[in-house]
Amino acid sequence: MDSTLLPPALASLRDDALACTRCPLAAERTQVVFGTGNPEAEIMFVGEGPGRDEDLAGEPFVGRSGKLLDRLMFEELGIDRSECYIANVVKCRPPNNRDPSPAEVASCSGYLMGQVDLIDPAVVVTLGNFATRALLGTTEGIKKIRGRAYPFRERSDRSVVPTYHPAAALRSGGQVVAEMRADLIRAKRLLPSVAR
Ligand code: URA
Repeated sequence: MDSTLLPPALASLRDDALACTRCPLAAERTQVVFGTGNPEAEIMFVGEGPGRDEDLAGEPFVGRSGKLLDRLMFEELGIDRSECYIANVVKCRPPNNRDPSPAEVASCSGYLMGQVDLIDPAVVVTLGNFATRALLGTTEGIKKIRGRAYPFRERSDRSVVPTYHPAAALRSGGQVVAEMRADLIRAKRLLPSVAR
């Protein structure tokens, strides 16, 4: 979506993020990768942080992982990225694609929580450990925690569906892709437009 068309509160949060220098990642970035998609989406995907392609493009999940995410969301949910919202736990690329540090995740969490509050999706699909930890506050690994939906913020109409990060699926192949598909089908059943 053209950023000039964003709802004012989301536009203001985005402006804050684009100017952010709260953590050392700011010094290394080419662009802040705030998030993209429909601000009224009923489903939101959350990844870990931008990689090289995303840092250059200013948009999340545009590289190989993103292509797989696009394909799976189309095949299992029947949607493209303009119909959902996509964001990351950290908005700036960790150098050499290292894991973001706990301090970097903490510095950035206000942006992600603000996005979730403002978009208020019925389902948040967390992609991998970092996003799952950020949204569910768990330390359990993704392999154990995936396979079911979790209530979100004590609301019966809001869920988190954890699944693998698409990069893990690219590395591991068949079984992980099959489990991601099953997780997306689980997410789809929770969407108000489908469950009706
Ligand atoms: N991996 C992520 O976690 N996020 C992106 O935007 C791209 C790759």
